[in-house]
Amino acid sequence: MKYHEPRLISLTNAIVVTVFYIILFMVGALIISPGSLHHFYTIVFLLCSAVLLFVISFFVFRYTLEKFIYSKIRLIYKTIHSIKTKKSEVRPPRIDTHFLDEVSHEVEEWQQEKSREIEQLRQLELYRREFIGNVSHELKTPLFNIQGYILTLLDGGLDDASINKEYLKRSEKSIERLIRIVEDLDEISQLESGQMKLNITRFDILALTREVMELLEMKAQKKEIRLVCAQQEKPIFVEGDREKIRQVLTNLLENSIRYGNEKGRTKISFFDMDEHILTEITDNGIGIESDELPRVFERFYRAPRGRAIFAKGKGLGLAIVKHILEAHHQTVNVRSSTGVGTTFGFTLKKV
Ligand SMILES: Nc1ncnc2c1ncn2[C@@H]1O[C@H](COP(=O)(O)OP(=O)(O)OP(=O)(O)O)[C@@H](O)[C@H]1O
Ligand SMILES: [Mg+2]
Repeated sequence: MKYHEPRLISLTNAIVVTVFYIILFMVGALIISPGSLHHFYTIVFLLCSAVLLFVISFFVFRYTLEKFIYSKIRLIYKTIHSIKTKKSEVRPPRIDTHFLDEVSHEVEEWQQEKSREIEQLRQLELYRREFIGNVSHELKTPLFNIQGYILTLLDGGLDDASINKEYLKRSEKSIERLIRIVEDLDEISQLESGQMKLNITRFDILALTREVMELLEMKAQKKEIRLVCAQQEKPIFVEGDREKIRQVLTNLLENSIRYGNEKGRTKISFFDMDEHILTEITDNGIGIESDELPRVFERFYRAPRGRAIFAKGKGLGLAIVKHILEAHHQTVNVRSSTGVGTTFGFTLKKV
């Protein structure tokens, strides 16, 4: 909203009052003594009194207006400044030409900033609540399983050779799952808090991909999924933390096997994007519904189709992938079509 300065308003008001006074004077003089307006002294008196009235009313208007506005705005202005400067340096308000422009602008800015902060806090609060719910849910399942096995063993199962070893083995598996969840959470929290130091080096991403593929070959064979890498002999050098990128590739390839169809295939391709190398992992598996796509990188999020095909997932793999790439100042994206397949792509700096 554009407004006028107190000086301008006072000037207008003073002119109006003075003009009104002159008209009133002339009308009065005409009524009382019609000839008096021709006298030199009357005109001089009229002019002098008009100038005096103009000056006095201008200053009275200006003083009253500024005092009024100043008293209203002073508090807001001080509050904004003390918040902005975190109380370190509170600038005293000045009443000069741009004072109101400045205040209005700052109030608008402040209001927008506060609205954004409130929205962010609301989102964080929602996220925090969901997160705590998810963690306890994920931890509960293996914990209850372990409790069940131990209670059965204590209830006499320990002496039953047909179940004792089996139940101990199952307990061990549940403990292993608990450890993996805690390790993943630890990794995410370290990445989020920026505590994780990246060991940035120059490495060949093609060679690293082949290493990861070899390690996952057995898992892929179980579902008769073919892992295919781009037919390329020349090394592709990128910059990054080799071990962290190994984890990114492992998580993405593991997902393509987990959520891939039997006898399917996973293809890994590399694209030269001038300053970056784009690595894409494409499967022809179950795919992800379009409304679920934006959520797959959230901690603990599992799409119902994915959950149905592989119940043991933790929903943390993609969150870790995203954090690792963000720590590299790079991006990860996904496109998918249910029944057709999914492609995850991420970039790394070319060197
Ligand atoms: N290639 C894929 N095809 C189809 N769905 C996928 C694919 N990759 C991920 N998803 C979906 O995204 C969800 C999140 O994946 P994410 O890797 O974070 O967790 P997860 O595989 O369930 O568990 P984990 O933490 O053990 O990796 C999965 O549960 C699955 O529903
Ligand atoms: Mg996964």
